[in-house]
Amino acid sequence: MALKNILVTGGSGFIGTNFIKYIYGLHPQWHIFNLDALTYAGNPMNHRELEEDPRYTFIHGDITDAALLKKLFDIHEFDGVFHFAAESHVDRSITGPEVFLHTNIMGTFKLLEASLTYFQNNGVSDFKFLHVSTDEVYGSLGFDDPAFTEETPYDPSSPYSASKASSDHLVKAYFKTYGLPTLVTNCSNNYGPFQFPEKLIPLVILNIMDKKSLPVYGKGENIRDWLYVEDHCEALVKVFEQGSFGETYNIGGGEEKNNLEVVHTICDLVDEKTGAKGSSRDLITFVKDRPGHDIRYAINSDKTLERIGFKAKYSFEQALSASIDWYLAHMDWVRSVQTGEYRKWMEKQYTS
Ligand code: NAD
Ligand code: TYD
Repeated sequence: MALKNILVTGGSGFIGTNFIKYIYGLHPQWHIFNLDALTYAGNPMNHRELEEDPRYTFIHGDITDAALLKKLFDIHEFDGVFHFAAESHVDRSITGPEVFLHTNIMGTFKLLEASLTYFQNNGVSDFKFLHVSTDEVYGSLGFDDPAFTEETPYDPSSPYSASKASSDHLVKAYFKTYGLPTLVTNCSNNYGPFQFPEKLIPLVILNIMDKKSLPVYGKGENIRDWLYVEDHCEALVKVFEQGSFGETYNIGGGEEKNNLEVVHTICDLVDEKTGAKGSSRDLITFVKDRPGHDIRYAINSDKTLERIGFKAKYSFEQALSASIDWYLAHMDWVRSVQTGEYRKWMEKQYTS
């Protein structure tokens, strides 16, 4: 059977890395093309084991580069696109929003344009474009509000979530206006291996190991729903295979926790695993709150369960414990991304 050519954008970042590893095993008939600009968040060494593999091709490039996209679509005639590439950290979007608008909005636009041109000119019947987005587009919930559904109006708070909201609207517009077969997923906070240590969970693990303070914004009362990245990967494949074009699917872990609870749990698990004397909870420091900090996210994933048959399998405690094991066993990876050490290797490898 001929291989299907699947374009994954941002496949060297956190979720993209996990996703490529997941689909590589799941779909032997897929040739995976990973298009990644290798910003600070992208690490091509995550896929070193695939370097010589005929079913994996890394392309060092930018989703805002229309000429490159056209060339890639012409040559590889992609059967599907999983679009992960983005600027993804809320705090960075507050101090430097412009790159978020450029990558998340213009990058998605260029990718949609390249997909549409290819789709229209080649009369491909089974092309699909899956856009990976976030629950943050829905804004902030009160403690007693019902969880976000796919019908919840968009009300983003940060430049990050506003840029993702804008990209979601563009994807839906390309379905409504041009008939491009698109799917949108909005998921909650992911955690698991290969997450850049600026996000809460890997940051706290790293700081505990370095005996540094653990910064908790405000009073640590903000609530997030936590989704193990492998569950997310499973959901994305299911939506890609079974979803109805033009529709949105929420993907949640069903695990609402406040930030202080999360940090306490990490402290206790790391202490237990490392046999630490004393409690890492002593490192917790309450710091100035993030401006526009959303109080609570909660996801109603009923539609995804009913239509796609997806429900998260992992409990937070179980998958958090496994994630901590991964970080403790891969402190070299954490340090190399933190210091940018891997970039020296990368620059030699990928001079495009
Ligand atoms: P990440 O920051 O870890 O990785 C982003 C990847 O995109 C990196 O490899 C980076 O090099 C690449 N990239 C950035 N700009 C690019 C460009 N212009 N061209 C090509 N590649 C570029 O992000 P992540 O946490 O893996 O998130 C992936 C996607 O999932 C994003 O779209 C994000 O909005 C969404 N999402 C993430 C979470 C989460 O909890 N991490 C939750 C909901 C949604
Ligand atoms: P983060 O991992 O940045 O994800 P997001 O902002 O997309 O939800 O943050 C998760 C939660 O943890 C969020 O409420 C902000 C909070 N937080 C801290 O309290 N301290 C930190 O150092 C970081 C990075 C986040």
